[in-house]
Amino acid sequence: MAIPRRKRVLIIAAFFILMAWHSMNAPEPTKASYSTPFHHPLFHQSIPINRETPIAADVESIVHIADEAKILVYLHSNRTTCIEPQLIGRLSGYFLSKIKWSYQHVTNHNVIVGRYTVPSPGNYFLEIIATMCQALDMDTDATNVCLIDPSQHRLTMDNATLDAALITTNNNNNAEGIGFWYNKNEVTMDTTDATSSIKPLFTRYQPQNCRGDNAALDRCKIPTDVTRFDPYEFQFNSQFFLNDEYLKGKEGRLCFIGASHSRVLARFANQISNNIHVLQVDHRYVANLTQSEVGYASKCGKVVIGMGQWDAGHHGMGPTSFRELKKEMNRAMLEFVKPLLDANVSVYFRNMHYNPLGDLITQCPPADWRNPNVVDTYNIITKELCNEFQVPFIDTTDITGIMWDRQEDWAHFKDISGELEARYFLYRVFS
Ligand SMILES: *[C@@H]1O[C@H](CO)[C@@H](O)[C@H](O)[C@H]1NC(C)=O
Ligand SMILES: *[C@@H]1O[C@H](CO)[C@@H](O)[C@H](O)[C@H]1NC(C)=O
Ligand SMILES: *[C@@H]1O[C@H](CO)[C@@H](O)[C@H](O)[C@H]1NC(C)=O
Ligand SMILES: *[C@@H]1O[C@H](CO)[C@@H](O)[C@H](O)[C@H]1NC(C)=O
Repeated sequence: MAIPRRKRVLIIAAFFILMAWHSMNAPEPTKASYSTPFHHPLFHQSIPINRETPIAADVESIVHIADEAKILVYLHSNRTTCIEPQLIGRLSGYFLSKIKWSYQHVTNHNVIVGRYTVPSPGNYFLEIIATMCQALDMDTDATNVCLIDPSQHRLTMDNATLDAALITTNNNNNAEGIGFWYNKNEVTMDTTDATSSIKPLFTRYQPQNCRGDNAALDRCKIPTDVTRFDPYEFQFNSQFFLNDEYLKGKEGRLCFIGASHSRVLARFANQISNNIHVLQVDHRYVANLTQSEVGYASKCGKVVIGMGQWDAGHHGMGPTSFRELKKEMNRAMLEFVKPLLDANVSVYFRNMHYNPLGDLITQCPPADWRNPNVVDTYNIITKELCNEFQVPFIDTTDITGIMWDRQEDWAHFKDISGELEARYFLYRVFS
């Protein structure tokens, strides 16, 4: 691991102090109950709630259960404003981690259960935001589903932190265990010290009326600022040997099938590889993956297909519905993917990237439907069909999903995230 030694020592020392403190003060931790907030032993921390945001009126408490690496968000049973809040949570500090939420106990127990994994125990900042107030399912028409105004979407207090104690390896959070983002600065994290150089990584968004000259106003500059991501660097897990050696002797033609996001990936991959010819094959909608396009695509030895940006984008009267996307994807598997496989082309799908909360996405009603919830649903559909047709689905959420809000142009990973992702695709496809 490329974590500086001094930092590692600090982290481990902090862990033992924390453990010692807890063993002195805490009764035996008990299994968390979904229905009894506040009856937890000390190893459970209450997370301060930002009561100034209207949606917080529906939240009773947020509790961190350190010994299970869980966060429970208890909702008032009498809630009326945000019935099914859809959450995004991020831990920041020495490392970044995203919380994976389960909504299966919302209806009966009024609790949303979050799980996280961190590469190292310690004190982390915690931000939880709510994107929308309803769950999307296959039959939801997302056309008029509005997002919560991002200037009021933060449920946690700005200084909310938690003491992570558990490092789990069987994580359902880091989809492929590709690696993690760590803070490259040699810093001490003292969250009570305002001058501490580690700042909480708040979700970036674009307020309304922040284009053109307005972009220079403080109310626009602060929430859109991208320098917040600068302290973080990515560390691949040790099983991935992604140095310059791994592509030695590899050759062939790799095509990223898709629109502009695929173009960006192809550009990065070309810079990385010498003997592999990488190109983009331009298809915008899933509906465009047709039989007549097989011939051209079959000139590629390997293809990585990534769709969805146009289907959910701002180019129509609404997003391609979930049912329609599933139907088209199923058809594309039969008409496009299967013939490619028969022609001995290696076919992979990749997850659709998140887009940050740009102004078209958060305006009400929305003019662009590439919000995190629609992207998640599209990805679930694609993943399920990949399973059914036994086509590998490469999930780079570890790289692009944790800093899902960093794209300077509100869409494309033209930064280091895109290069890391291209590197990982080359590794997956050629090793
Ligand atoms: C819901 O219940 C809580 C606590 O029991 C109470 O404080 C709140 O005012 C109630 N809200 C509504 C909308 O009735
Ligand atoms: C967090 O911020 C709130 C509001 O500014 C303040 O009342 C509270 O004392 C702070 N907590 C810590 C631990 O700094
Ligand atoms: C791609 O699909 C879209 C949506 O179905 C359609 O409007 C467009 O004509 C197609 N383009 C091509 C080149 O087939
Ligand atoms: C695909 O590969 C198999 C096994 O290597 C070979 O038998 C077959 O002829 C190939 N098919 C095509 C269309 O190249």
